[in-house]
Amino acid sequence: MTKAVLGIIGGSGLYDLPGLEDAEWRTVESPWGTPSDQLSFGRIGATPIVFLPRHGRGHRLAPSGIDYRANIDALKRAGVTDLVSVSAVGSLKQELFPGDFVIVDQFIDRTVGRVSTFFGNGCVAHVSMAHPVAPRLVERIRLAAAAEDIPHHIGGTYVAMEGPQFSSVAESHLYRSWNADVIGMTNMPEAKLAREAELSYATIAMVTDYDCWHPNHAAVTVDEVIRVLGENRDKAQRLVARLARDFPAEHEPCPIGSDRALDHALITAPDA
Ligand code: ADE
Repeated sequence: MTKAVLGIIGGSGLYDLPGLEDAEWRTVESPWGTPSDQLSFGRIGATPIVFLPRHGRGHRLAPSGIDYRANIDALKRAGVTDLVSVSAVGSLKQELFPGDFVIVDQFIDRTVGRVSTFFGNGCVAHVSMAHPVAPRLVERIRLAAAAEDIPHHIGGTYVAMEGPQFSSVAESHLYRSWNADVIGMTNMPEAKLAREAELSYATIAMVTDYDCWHPNHAAVTVDEVIRVLGENRDKAQRLVARLARDFPAEHEPCPIGSDRALDHALITAPDA
């Protein structure tokens, strides 16, 4: 049996978890680099929680400046089995309103110049990213959102852009023509690295704006993102608290094998 430890990565606007009991910030070192901040260890009910603010407390790190490998490695070393990313996003669809939560199930990686693997340098692996999120974790988030009466959508495609500038109107229309649902700057390479680390991963994408494609809405600004995030922080915290309270003590094996992703991924000969 593997004890379940729930990891939470807090995005813009979510720099701590007020509901965390017996919380203690601790430094976790990683040979891969410097994590965004200390990790906050605690529990909600009986569920052990490890929280990491993705941009650091005070929002010091831009999306391209985050050491995603160090973050994922530190969470893995902290014993995390199941990882939930909470992230602000722009909406690419009329029906995804600012304030809605989207539990995405696909990603399009448009980032450039971020290190996106733990492998290479003598040990090569190719993990599957066909299904990047863990279905049982998604189902638990869905149940928690329903129990808390939080407007949410199950499934959707997240475009990860490099930033830090927001998109042009032409880019926004391009992503809409790809039938993508939301856009953000941080879930890649995070989701790829979580898979390589054999963590079950899911994203709660909090819609803050209509990016810049919508004829009846002004183009996204930081002020708008912060305003909507402020209104939604409480919902995100309630959702995470409910998810944690109802979480099983034992890690549930992932039906798509995200927690065993390396079983068939290593291509380098063992004695090479
Ligand atoms: N985060 C929140 N809104 C965003 C947008 N429109 N584009 C990229 N990242 C975002």
